[in-house]
This record gives sequence, structure tokens and C-alpha cells, in this order.
Amino acid sequence: MPTAVVTGANSGIGHAFAQILIREGYNVIAADLDVSGKLTSLQCDGVQLDVTSPVSIASFVSSYGGRPIDLLLNIAGFMAPPDEDALSTVSLATLTKTFSVNTFGPLLLTQALLPNLLKSENPKVGVMSSRVGSITDNSSGGSYAYRASKAAANSVFKNIAVDLRDKGVAVVIMHPGIVKTPMTGMGEGIPEAVWPEEAAEKLWGVVKGKGLEDTGRFWHREGFELPW
Ligand SMILES: NC(=O)c1ccc[n+]([C@@H]2O[C@H](COP(=O)([O-])OP(=O)(O)OC[C@H]3O[C@@H](n4cnc5c(N)ncnc54)[C@H](OP(=O)(O)O)[C@@H]3O)[C@@H](O)[C@H]2O)c1
Repeated sequence: MPTAVVTGANSGIGHAFAQILIREGYNVIAADLDVSGKLTSLQCDGVQLDVTSPVSIASFVSSYGGRPIDLLLNIAGFMAPPDEDALSTVSLATLTKTFSVNTFGPLLLTQALLPNLLKSENPKVGVMSSRVGSITDNSSGGSYAYRASKAAANSVFKNIAVDLRDKGVAVVIMHPGIVKTPMTGMGEGIPEAVWPEEAAEKLWGVVKGKGLEDTGRFWHREGFELPW
């Protein structure tokens, strides 16, 4: 049975992804800051993990031991309220928190789990980016910390793809569209917003279909490639 680690599994897209992977026959390790909510409904192991804390990452890795991991999905994320992330308001605290969760955490967790990934015959790493991290695609401005943290995550995971290609690790960088989760106020007033189950199901199709030949590219949930 293949093993998958999913962060952000207590809510939204991470939770929907964990459900899909359980259905697909994975041994899922569902991780989040809070493991007492929706995560308890999953038929799998739940683990408390703060991706911004090296101590928490180390404890997670050591409790998991040297077992192989076939799929690591870095889905946990943070977005400050728009009025705290504008040009006139963004602070060092908002920048630090946003980059810690969206960029540094996924990098450090992937680094820490690399020995486990390299024990898999077909290792894959995914990161939930966002289209707002595309510099080319930016026509709306704002969201300084969030946008930059996702652009930086794109850079980090493209880099990981280059470094790990020869070791057989495929990397998938994802955009889910606008999704009805707590992060977006459940998509209230956004007609194009979809439920997390739809976003995760379509992205699972993307993750499944991409191998080393496509490593380090940035995909929309509908399967087309996004510009950096
Ligand atoms: N929803 C969208 O429209 C959309 C669009 C583009 C990209 N994304 C990305 O998709 C991913 C999932 O977002 P979502 O919409 O599903 O949001 P969500 O429902 O708010 O889920 C995010 C999860 O990440 C957890 N988390 C936050 N900080 C963490 C930390 N330090 N360590 C571990 N877990 C942490 C949150 O826990 P707490 O709730 O306890 O803080 C929450 O369970 C994020 O990376 C987001 O940036 C979402």
C-alpha cells in the first residue's frame, strides 16, 4: 500500500485530498495544526504538525521513522485578511507568518522527509501554490505577502524539481482555482468558486498524470499550464 503525507488535512482542499487518497488505497498520514476537527472523520492516522516549526517537523519525522513515503502533498496555507496585506498595511509580522506557512514550511518539510521519499520506487511531491503567485498573470495587484509567498513557493519547488530529477522525484506545482473554504470566506459572492472536493478531484487527476517528464511545472486544476 503506498503512503501519502497530506498537510492542511483538517480543512478545505487538504481534507478533500486526504479523502480521495484514502479512497485510492493510500495509507494516508493526515497532518494539520489542529487535529481535533474535520480530520477526525478521516479513516487514517492524524498527526499534529506545525509546518512553521522545525521542532514540530523534526518530531513528526522521527515519529514516522525511516518508512518510505510515496507522495508528499504540501497543502497547508495561510492568507491574511486583504486589509492587512495591502501596500499601505502589510507588516513584517504578516510577511513573516505568510512566508513561514506557504513557503518556508513546505520547503523544510520536504527537506526533512527527503530520506523517506527516496525510499519510494515512484516518489512525488506536490505543493499547493496559487495563480496569484504567477508574476506574468498579475493584473489585479494587492495581497503582497500572499502573492509573494506563492511566487517564492513556485521558485522553491521548481528548484527542488531540478535538484531531485536525477533521483527520480517528480514535483507538481498546483493551482486549485477559487475554492469554497474558510480561507476564501467559503467563496461567498464569488460565482466561479468550487467546492474543495471538485478542486481536489481535478488536481488528483493532474498529480496522477504527471511524472518526471513534467516535473517542476505549474498546473491549473483544469490541466493547463500556468506561466511563472
Ligand atoms: N481556497 C482557495 O481558493 C485557494 C486558491 C489558491 C490556493 N489555495 C491554497 O490551497 C491551500 C489550501 O487552502 P484552503 O483553501 O483549503 O484553506 P483552509 O481551508 O484554510 O485550509 C488550510 C489549512 O492549513 C492549516 N495550516 C495553517 N497554518 C498551518 C501550519 N503552520 N501548519 C500546519 N497546518 C497549517 C490550517 O489550519 P488552521 O485553520 O488551524 O489555521 C487549515 O487547516 C493553501 O495553500 C492555499 O493557499 C487556496
